[in-house]
Amino acid sequence: MQDFSFYNPTRIEFGAGKIARLDALVPANARVLVLLGGESARRSGTLDEVLTALGEREVQVFNGIEPNPSFETLMKAVDQVREQQLDYLLAVGGGSVIDGTKFVAAAALFNGDAWDILLQGGQNVTSALPFGSVLTLPATGSEMNKGSVITRKSLAAKLPFASEHVYPQFSILDPVKTYTLPPRQIANGVVDAFMHVIEQYLTYPAEAPVQDRFAEGLLQTLIEVGPKALANPEDYQTRASLMWTATLALNGLIGSGVPQDWATHMLGHELTALHGLDHAQTLAIILPEMLRQRKAAKLGKLVQYAERVWNIDTGSDDDKAETAIECTRDFFEAVGVKTRLSDYGLGAEHIDNIIDSLTNHGMTKLGEHNDVTPEHCRQILLASI
Ligand code: NZQ
Ligand code: ZN
Repeated sequence: MQDFSFYNPTRIEFGAGKIARLDALVPANARVLVLLGGESARRSGTLDEVLTALGEREVQVFNGIEPNPSFETLMKAVDQVREQQLDYLLAVGGGSVIDGTKFVAAAALFNGDAWDILLQGGQNVTSALPFGSVLTLPATGSEMNKGSVITRKSLAAKLPFASEHVYPQFSILDPVKTYTLPPRQIANGVVDAFMHVIEQYLTYPAEAPVQDRFAEGLLQTLIEVGPKALANPEDYQTRASLMWTATLALNGLIGSGVPQDWATHMLGHELTALHGLDHAQTLAIILPEMLRQRKAAKLGKLVQYAERVWNIDTGSDDDKAETAIECTRDFFEAVGVKTRLSDYGLGAEHIDNIIDSLTNHGMTKLGEHNDVTPEHCRQILLASI
């Protein structure tokens, strides 16, 4: 096991009706900005519930944070915070709204050009406004981590930042709030959470048996509950399991003390920035060929993944690895996320541009060994058509 420092200050309030806890969680004298995505929170009644729970507090609403939240939109929220002297943020939505709120929290107190936060990956963030979240989409883990991914539309750039100053103070996880999600978003959530585990697990053996078994448990849970969550949208226990699994997949616990990969995510961000694919769609396309391309370096963990997660116990190591890769692809397809570039209207003619963009963003040494180059990524994309 590698050395690590584990810190996670986010309180989780889990269960039906927990939005009522907002009154106890948000300071009584707070001047609150509630941040929303499009129409979903308003339509589902979640916004009303939130406003009721906030009671007599001074509350303003910022509407319109888009999926893959944009710098351009978020800077308008930063202006509102500053002009109206708001001092507490509350994200109500999915990963995009929570990521966006993290950026607003940091940018509102940042001296200088806020885009520098992304250019320096958050290392220059020294403070942020306090905030909480009401999660409506299980997927990203943003509700209990310090990461955020922001898109600058004018530059076609989607970049991550991380800072201990942007952990939510609390997140409310009410599985009932996920009932209104369309199947596409549930499928995306299952794939994204699965990928978060894979990025922290499928690297090389690191003598971290408890992290491995936590990770395998999360993967098996997603394989079990993903299809059920799609088939029975109002099955509370299934949605509860999915929600908590997605949070645990990226709250820092399983990634402590182990090598981490993230190459699939970084290449995926380019596909979203340039072609607008959903985050999870990009991951479903890239992962199978990423694993195949890096099979030799990952063989130890691929065989363990095959045996323990997919119960594959026959054939050579190479056979097991190949079968596990195909099981993974089949799982993504079975929950409804297509795994080929051509499924999204993309082909060989788009790849040069994607690779140029990856290179321009400095993503030239990816993966747990820093040895995944733009040329590897080109081969991966070609094989993914
Ligand atoms: O905008 P509204 O109207 O709210 O609709 C949203 C949006 O269209 C809808 N939705 C959310 N909750 C709903 C609902 N519709 C009906 N009922 C509900 N209860 O779902 C759509 C997608 O929402 P979004 O927030 O974009 O999805 P997700 O949670 O998958 O977030 C994706 C973003 O998170 C980033 C991704 O890159 C992407 O930008 N990630 C953040 C991470 C982190 N902070 O740690 C890690 C991830 O790897 C990921 O990169
Ligand atoms: Zn992700």
